[in-house]
Amino acid sequence: MPDLTATAVACPNIAFIKYWGNRDDALRLPTNGSISMNLDGLCTITRVTFEPDLPADALSLNGIPASEPARQRVQDFLACLRQMARTELHARVDSHSNFPTGAGIASSASAFAALSLAASTALGLDLPLADLSRLARRGSGSACRSVPGGFVEWQAGHGDEDSYAVTIAPPDHWALVDCIAVVSRSHKGITSSEGHRSAWTSPLQAARVADAPRRLDLCRRAILDRDFASLVDIIELDSNLMHAVMATSTPSLIYYQPATLAVIQAVRRWRGEGLPVGYTIDAGPNVHVITLAEYAGPVADRLQGIEGVEQVICAGPGGPARLVSGDDAPSDAPEGCRTGG
Ligand code: DP6
Repeated sequence: MPDLTATAVACPNIAFIKYWGNRDDALRLPTNGSISMNLDGLCTITRVTFEPDLPADALSLNGIPASEPARQRVQDFLACLRQMARTELHARVDSHSNFPTGAGIASSASAFAALSLAASTALGLDLPLADLSRLARRGSGSACRSVPGGFVEWQAGHGDEDSYAVTIAPPDHWALVDCIAVVSRSHKGITSSEGHRSAWTSPLQAARVADAPRRLDLCRRAILDRDFASLVDIIELDSNLMHAVMATSTPSLIYYQPATLAVIQAVRRWRGEGLPVGYTIDAGPNVHVITLAEYAGPVADRLQGIEGVEQVICAGPGGPARLVSGDDAPSDAPEGCRTGG
């Protein structure tokens, strides 16, 4: 008889080569592969308890009952798992994140990675890493990359069976730091899921997708060779391509705010002065400024000095999703968030 309860922790990740657009929206099969780095010290801790008398799944986020769409998304996700585990039990899900949600630091990635591990364990399923990553993908595409640790590649695959993420280098392979310039903490208007559905309305998406294998190769090689200049070249190109697709989709999506552009310009200027820095931006206005660990302090100080930058959060490469004891699940848990690295 399984315990019916488990608690897991997972980090968010920053995409170096972006996932934007699905071949199959329901299964979240992406049009192109993607590469990311887990973010150590940022995390979501999720406790799942299946209860015999619960009529529906219940979700609380940071101690507050979640909105109906968020609860429904978790219920739809848990329906996949119920099918796998052949149970009809519903669950109480309590999830806490220690970073601003909805503004370009993918909270759905850490949330669904932690939920996949906690819920599958609670039901007594001991899933291999690939199957756990496939399961997390059903909740949120980028969540499949928060299941393995370190530098991660999501192979687009041909179908549900082979579309999952694997580690390409462990957290201690390369001391990169993501200095996240938070320019807005407010929730974005258009969700990533809606954005994926409109990606093909842009005439630029076909070109972005056709060139993706080349960018994936260059990015993978730059990581394996610890070649910072090549990494920066390719992640900036990839980010710019995705935001060009977004801006030319119907409806047109522009996530940048004035401070987003101010940070981009500053990063280019600093690089010209010899500082090892590059930028990448997910589906929000915040700028992820990638640098080497020894430069993280000065880079964070400089970012803090830019008008419109509210906060700078620095994170090195993080470990995989992992189980923690139920007692380790406080509301705001920087210690519990250390997943490795
Ligand atoms: C811009 O994984 O958040 O961050 O599958 O609908 O949950 P859903 O989308 P999501 O999309 C992430 C988009 C991105 C790029 C990336 O992380 O690769």
